[in-house]
Amino acid sequence: MQPADLITLKTIRKNPLVERYMNQGNTFIGHIGAIEHDQRHAELVSFLSYDILNTLGHSRREAELASMAGYLHDIGNVVNRYGHGMSGAIMVFDMLVSMNMDPEEIAVILGAIGNHEERANGHSVNPIAAAVILADKSDLHQSRVRKTELESFTPRDRVNFAVKESALMVNPDKQIITLQLKIDTQYCSVVEYFEIFLTKMVMCKRAAEYLNCQFELLINDVKLL
Ligand SMILES: [Fe+2]
Ligand SMILES: [Fe+2]
Repeated sequence: MQPADLITLKTIRKNPLVERYMNQGNTFIGHIGAIEHDQRHAELVSFLSYDILNTLGHSRREAELASMAGYLHDIGNVVNRYGHGMSGAIMVFDMLVSMNMDPEEIAVILGAIGNHEERANGHSVNPIAAAVILADKSDLHQSRVRKTELESFTPRDRVNFAVKESALMVNPDKQIITLQLKIDTQYCSVVEYFEIFLTKMVMCKRAAEYLNCQFELLINDVKLL
């Protein structure tokens, strides 16, 4: 059994069940028309969560915990799309206990996974949770939309489909976290985009503030926040 402090993203990736559950979850929610929550999304959220805390000068271990929470955050989709943050946290609890991870570290990861959904009233309950919220909500791109008929798009599909480019930038000197989007206004105007995206933006703003940063939103070079 490994010493408690050596559980890393690499350890989690080595567990063959993790990727299988995540892939199955993505397939299941695809059947109800949800956007892609594939391996690419897990890897990106993991990387961005690490990068946010690392750039802001948090400890290497905190950044590593964020990379693990970011990687695992959507695993609960295998149970149900609704409440997947909470079901995912319970699944991850069992996995990390069986890996003999330090209970304090498990707790931080569970809090982050269980608080990443806006529908479930998620909050930045710790720095890892704040990083995962910012990383997850900034993964917007038209390639994530699986539906092909524009008429069947939900507002969430439209906000994703309109995005041609997205980037999350962290400026540690000015303490500013910027989400920069380039959108195609034939699918969504800038104002409409902001309206549809408001709950996510409020979550990002609060997450940035939790990390003592200001949140900035730039859509087609227009500063909306
Ligand atoms: Fe999620
Ligand atoms: Fe996600």
